[in-house]
Amino acid sequence: MVSQAEQLRVDVERLRSDTPGVGRVIHLNNAGSALPPESVIETVVDHLRLEATWGGYEAGYMAEDAMQQVYEAVAELLGGTASQVALTDSATRSFDMLFYSIDLQPGDRIITIQTEFATNYLGFLHRSKQVDVDIVIVPLDSAGHVDLEALDKELAEGARLLLIDHIPNYCGVVQPAAEIGRLAKKHGVTFILDVTQSAGQLPLSAVEIGCDAMFGTSRKWLRGPRGMGFIWASESLMPKLQPPILTLRSAVWSSLDDYELVDDARRFEMWESSLALKLGFGEAVRYALNCGIPALTARIQSLNQLFRDGLQEIPSVTIADWGLAEAGITTFDVAGIDADDIVDRLRTCKVNMSMHPANYALLDFTRRERGPLVRTSAHAYNTEEEILRALELLRGVVNKPRVR
Ligand SMILES: Cc1ncc(COP(=O)(O)O)c(C=O)c1O
Repeated sequence: MVSQAEQLRVDVERLRSDTPGVGRVIHLNNAGSALPPESVIETVVDHLRLEATWGGYEAGYMAEDAMQQVYEAVAELLGGTASQVALTDSATRSFDMLFYSIDLQPGDRIITIQTEFATNYLGFLHRSKQVDVDIVIVPLDSAGHVDLEALDKELAEGARLLLIDHIPNYCGVVQPAAEIGRLAKKHGVTFILDVTQSAGQLPLSAVEIGCDAMFGTSRKWLRGPRGMGFIWASESLMPKLQPPILTLRSAVWSSLDDYELVDDARRFEMWESSLALKLGFGEAVRYALNCGIPALTARIQSLNQLFRDGLQEIPSVTIADWGLAEAGITTFDVAGIDADDIVDRLRTCKVNMSMHPANYALLDFTRRERGPLVRTSAHAYNTEEEILRALELLRGVVNKPRVR
């Protein structure tokens, strides 16, 4: 029998030998877009070659079984069945297909939190201008978690939708999704969870969380190709959602003046799409499942904690997020040096981090008076030595501001 400690251990050497990019850079931008394993790259390229050899549609027929397995892999990742999964081209598209399917009426309330990501909040603003819905921001506690008592009160006043990020894209906070789900259920409010930063990083179970839908992306913690996203929708929510646009994948033109929507999650899909990317995404999901998601969680958290501990020893560096290392993301500020300057200079040393602009999370950055920050996000394939090396290079950059 495999012990619990072993279940929580990842084979880092194996992860690294499976990942061609690790030999070239110290990649600490996994919250942006991770390095994929070789098997993902091969899957994508193999299908492109199949299309080039036999024709795009013909390659599609040949890949029918493999494509079904992609939906099954995502269902295994999130819970439920393959028919509850839709494949899209990004988390933003997934959000759009869910959000604009809700028949919002003037005065409807949308509940969210202060750390919400830009593309979701842009949708809320857009609808509030079009339909005059109200956006309600529930306060956070001092650690950055949603204040459950305040949420309970807001939900009790009625709301059409509760939508939040499971992990904000610039800090290590994990929102208590299952508690939030319990409150949403108690008040009968539709709850959509943005798992863009948690899929591949945390175990996810739609049933345990009790949400009505989830959506996310391929290229981040799941290490799939760019240009892919996904939706999971509950069987009870799906029939209530009328997609904002129809395609030959989502509906059948059944008579001269009518159509029928397909009854599963394909109702959110486009007809045309990249089969190569979908297959590559499926391989990425299977790869993550084979690693064991709880083991990935434990390693990602410990690397992030190591990075945070090191940052605290560099004078002039301030950790500028909410302070927790429950997840694998940290943002920080360096006194007197712009975030993009830090990122550029580290990139020339082959260390990848990213700059987080204030308007990617404008509510929080405005309330806490933050400017652009440096964001770092290690994945399980990173090593402790890489983290220490990145800290050493950062120390060098901090000690030698560029002369302008
Ligand atoms: C929490 C969160 N939601 C949504 C998105 C949008 O994802 P995509 O770029 O795949 O549309 C991001 C991207 O960083 C994110 O971090």
